[in-house]
Amino acid sequence: MDSTASPDAPIRIESFLGEGKGRSLAEDVREGLTRSFKELPPKHFYDTRGAELFERICELPEYYPTRAERAILDEFAGELVAITGAEEVVELGAGAATKTRVLLDALHATGVPARYVPMDVTESMVRELATELTETYPGMQVHGVIGDFERHLEYLPPSEGKRLVVFLGGTIGNFAPAPRREFLGKIAGLLQSGDHLLMGVDLVKDPEVLRAAYDDAQGVTAEFNRNLLHVLNRELDADFDPSDFDHVAVFDAEQEWIEMRLRSRRAHTVTVGALGMGVHFGAGEEMRTEISAKFTQARVTADLAASGLDLVRWLTDPEDRFALTLSRRSDA
Ligand code: SAH
Ligand code: AVI
Repeated sequence: MDSTASPDAPIRIESFLGEGKGRSLAEDVREGLTRSFKELPPKHFYDTRGAELFERICELPEYYPTRAERAILDEFAGELVAITGAEEVVELGAGAATKTRVLLDALHATGVPARYVPMDVTESMVRELATELTETYPGMQVHGVIGDFERHLEYLPPSEGKRLVVFLGGTIGNFAPAPRREFLGKIAGLLQSGDHLLMGVDLVKDPEVLRAAYDDAQGVTAEFNRNLLHVLNRELDADFDPSDFDHVAVFDAEQEWIEMRLRSRRAHTVTVGALGMGVHFGAGEEMRTEISAKFTQARVTADLAASGLDLVRWLTDPEDRFALTLSRRSDA
């Protein structure tokens, strides 16, 4: 673990990226690119450039989830702070925490000396966030955790008061159904009696609206998708030419999720130098890079219940595009 903290500073940053069990990028590539149906997990999009591209996606006219979730927070942040009595906010996949600030504003206004614990794989985001938020909220402690929430949840600092775990953006939709429930069970393990989980979920809607949100006219999402190839080139000495791949976004009506894929324009073999591996792509062959599941209230309630969590509040935006769920441990 790398740790940075000075005795009286309100900021503490810890990094666990090199530690713990679970698969690294190299292992994901070895496993995911040797299958007949090639696939890589979406967490590898988010190097500094990937994080910037995601921020641009959030501003796109087609990408409604960010605005919809923000509208819910604008309306209900005060009530959520009052219901939960939160004294610390632990945020998984915090990113730039743009919307979280609505919640932190409401928390700060109560005068509670709160602690904010953002966790993210993108080091630059966690560091910038810690500096910005301690300036914005005098008196707030920020304990940033640079880590993979699939591998490093156990390294989160012990609770220091009534905890609100926050998981925004619909990122839970990036898990397949079985791992999703397993992960929610691990989140339940972060909660004690009186603690809550606030989680954003994108809702099932017109497939054309969904598809456009993942294939915008300006091509920012396509760049975000191809950024994965830049990450592989840099981190694993691969020789992908991103212009050999088309961005594809399709709605799977049966699973009710969007899939992003990269489709090879021609038959060719890519070398992954660090792994001594050649990966052959046929012409038109696709590699899945992300699923983004869309939810109904019934599906979320069932997922939460299967993971030991009870839904307490279901809050939607005025157009019913997105929902914020507040839940707590069933046994608490
Ligand atoms: N919460 C923000 C950002 C969502 S984008 C919002 O609602 O706008 C998803 C975020 O999760 C990114 O910042 C990405 O770096 C982070 N992330 C993705 N997979 C992760 C993982 N396995 N562990 C930790 N962070 C992860
Ligand atoms: C972070 N995650 C919830 C986003 C989503 O909508 O699934 C990532 C994203 N992928 C393409 N556009 C945005």
